[in-house]
Amino acid sequence: MKTIIEPFKIKSVEPITITTEGQREKLIKEVDYNLFSLHAKDVMIDLLTDSGTSSMSAKQWAAIMVGDESYAGSPSYYRFVDAVQHLMPFDHIIPTHQGRAAEKILFSIIGGKGKYILNNTHFDTTRANIEYTGARAIDLVIEEGKNPSSIHPFKGNMDIKKLQQAIQAYGAENIPMVMLTVTNNSGGGQPVSMENIRTVKAICKQYNIPLFIDACRFAENAYFIKMRESGYQQHSIIDIVQEMFSYADGCTMSAKKDALVNIGGWLALNNNEWAEQARNLLILTEGFPTYGGLSGRDLDAMAVGLEEVVEEDYLHYRITSTQYLGNYLLKAGIPIVQPAGGHAIYIDARAMLPHIKPLAYPGQSLAVALYKYAGIRSCEIGTVMFGAQPDGKEKAAAMDLVRLAIPRRVYTQSHIDYVIESLTDIYDKKDELKGMKIVWQPKQLRHFTAKFDYL
Ligand code: F0G
Repeated sequence: MKTIIEPFKIKSVEPITITTEGQREKLIKEVDYNLFSLHAKDVMIDLLTDSGTSSMSAKQWAAIMVGDESYAGSPSYYRFVDAVQHLMPFDHIIPTHQGRAAEKILFSIIGGKGKYILNNTHFDTTRANIEYTGARAIDLVIEEGKNPSSIHPFKGNMDIKKLQQAIQAYGAENIPMVMLTVTNNSGGGQPVSMENIRTVKAICKQYNIPLFIDACRFAENAYFIKMRESGYQQHSIIDIVQEMFSYADGCTMSAKKDALVNIGGWLALNNNEWAEQARNLLILTEGFPTYGGLSGRDLDAMAVGLEEVVEEDYLHYRITSTQYLGNYLLKAGIPIVQPAGGHAIYIDARAMLPHIKPLAYPGQSLAVALYKYAGIRSCEIGTVMFGAQPDGKEKAAAMDLVRLAIPRRVYTQSHIDYVIESLTDIYDKKDELKGMKIVWQPKQLRHFTAKFDYL
């Protein structure tokens, strides 16, 4: 196979400050080994998140110049609505400043005590927004989706049997909505098949429960369907996207992912009553319904990003370059969540560092080592993030992963080769990595600000 070249050339560059291992040892110690506390200028390759970190195209920057900043009824808003409805033909498109703002508004309307929201796997902010209203967030991903080494083409699928059981157990009248997160970020960026979306919709219809899609990475999901699901090889990405959304009654979206912008999002839906309530809530916190917490230029950048993200050359490069990273890490013997996800590779730090017990944070130890050794910033998704219990105790999370999230159109293959080489070197001396402890932590969301030291 030929090298997958980036389907773009670079017109404008941002320098990376090259640091030495000695400098980085000092820098990371100064921030008590918390990677969130580093200054980004001290990071050489930043794989902390794929959210809001995309590189925009010349066409998007040009669209920014024609953005119209009228408070109400801006032409930018209408261009944005047309671009969204072309792919996701919902009646109401309500812009928000990012995905969680759409979640906050949606669950303020439909959540509340005694309610249950079912999802393949809720993303953290989705779960938090649901629980904040007193409702419960239930994850129903297939069993394969919980096992890092099991191979399945659509590990993000919802377990249909568990869905039916949950509806029986909680009662359809207490389930205001079922959701599907595409791709399933918390489960390793794994896709959901068209067949699964269709089946979930059929069950929802039977019980009169609306189906919403958490659409952050919808284009990556569509590309996986084209590659892996029989019958879709000849379909265009736009056709696949339109079919995916034809089964849904609405969606929440973080445009910071598959709309290729640095800020933005939306709530889309068909229910007129909910839409009216949503627009009223939008005015309280986000702004007037034709700009929703964004400037007109942001709406134009999203409109163009939505055209570019469904281009097949882009998606081919995007998905195969993530797989490229995954394949070379596997070749080096490094255990990862398989198969490779769309936007990120997740290293199984617990399997890689069996000498470090979960409560000594193998993921954190690996993430810190990767920064010290190579200036690469990644993110622990394991016992640091999920281990704190409401009673103040802690227990091991289900998995100890380190996520390497790939910003869109930002890094070239040589950057990725450097990541592979660095991790291979660390793997060769993995037995020297030491466990860590937390020396200070806040009451909630400890991973963002906790202070660490070595055991
Ligand atoms: N849903 C999913 C599946 C997400 O991955 C995210 C964000 C959100 C909702 C919330 O969107 O950040 O615009 O408010 N994920 C980022 C990440 C933060 O790093 O995975 P937001």
